[in-house]
Amino acid sequence: MVDTMLRGYKDIARVGLVGGGVIGTGWAVRCLANGLDVSMTDPAPEAEARIRETIARTWPTMEQIGLAEGASVDRFSFHPTIEAAVDEADFVHENVPEREDVKTSVIAEISKHLSAEVIISSSSSGLLPTSIQSEALAPERVIIGHPFSPLYILPLVELVGGEQTSAEAIAKAAGYFTRIGMRPLHVRNEIEAYIGDRLQEALWHEALHLVNDGIATMQEIDAAITGGPGLRWAFMGIGMGWHVAAGEGGMRVNMQHFAPTLELPWTKLKAPPFTERLNDLVVEGCEAQQGDRHWLEMEQRRDQALIKIREVIQEYWYPEDQDGWPKVRELP
Ligand SMILES: NC(=O)c1ccc[n+]([C@@H]2O[C@H](COP(=O)([O-])OP(=O)(O)OC[C@H]3O[C@@H](n4cnc5c(N)ncnc54)[C@H](O)[C@@H]3O)[C@@H](O)[C@H]2O)c1
Repeated sequence: MVDTMLRGYKDIARVGLVGGGVIGTGWAVRCLANGLDVSMTDPAPEAEARIRETIARTWPTMEQIGLAEGASVDRFSFHPTIEAAVDEADFVHENVPEREDVKTSVIAEISKHLSAEVIISSSSSGLLPTSIQSEALAPERVIIGHPFSPLYILPLVELVGGEQTSAEAIAKAAGYFTRIGMRPLHVRNEIEAYIGDRLQEALWHEALHLVNDGIATMQEIDAAITGGPGLRWAFMGIGMGWHVAAGEGGMRVNMQHFAPTLELPWTKLKAPPFTERLNDLVVEGCEAQQGDRHWLEMEQRRDQALIKIREVIQEYWYPEDQDGWPKVRELP
């Protein structure tokens, strides 16, 4: 399986990035740190300066995580057009705003400047690949490669193919993502918002109802996650979290125990109407938690916390079924 997944990744030396906001810049940082050449384009007038500043600011974090041989910020280049940015690229990420019409036409434009075997990976958070590949040349190489922010630290990337995507493109992309230190998850059935964002949306809808109905503040909602289930979710997910929490008998017991509650009105799921009042409650709730802390300081503390959490999980929890993961620590 690993052999199939890794097929083709060795050919990838230069990555082209179209769109350099939060996600495009995140790809730049991860790819540079993994020893690749990166060429990027973004039409915003301030884009190049902002992107270079973000790469420089994040580089010490990447040095701390560990740079690949030959990794250097000097291997970054910025270009005025899509054509120039993807010229000679072996793999391309599209990271423009989440609008189907914009993505469809940008992907079509990218495809005109690449040979047919070069994969075009959209960072979309939830659009269907069948739609956004529809106008591309050689649409079989268009996939979704959906990361999670900060993508230079978090390893998950969801791979989704559309009706025209080839199995080979998915396998080749999985090899590339593994090569740049990520954990590809193939979403085998095309669906809006894939897996990760559907789960986040469900939780978010419920949080919005609690705020909208005056039951909890944003601070209380965050506390209910970070001190309890969130700590487990980071390494066990929800299935194994409850399986182990139930003790002997695991999920078999847990399902029986909580079966009656499935009938109770414990969730609303459909989001409440978006009103100015709800917007203010959510935004002010987060800003109150931030206080007078600068967002850059919070970004750095988040990154440091994530690096430590990953180290602890790798040390104590069961290693992934992949080469290169450290041995789990013996229990006392
Ligand atoms: N922000 C996140 O946490 C996150 C996580 C996963 C996936 N995504 C997805 O990644 C994509 C990008 O999101 P983002 O948060 O980086 O957005 P962003 O608004 O920060 O960046 C988008 C960038 O695209 C540029 N752009 C606009 N039109 C363009 C064009 N025609 N060609 C090239 N560049 C163009 C803009 O100037 C901007 O810099 C979206 O599809 C989003 O849903 C975002």
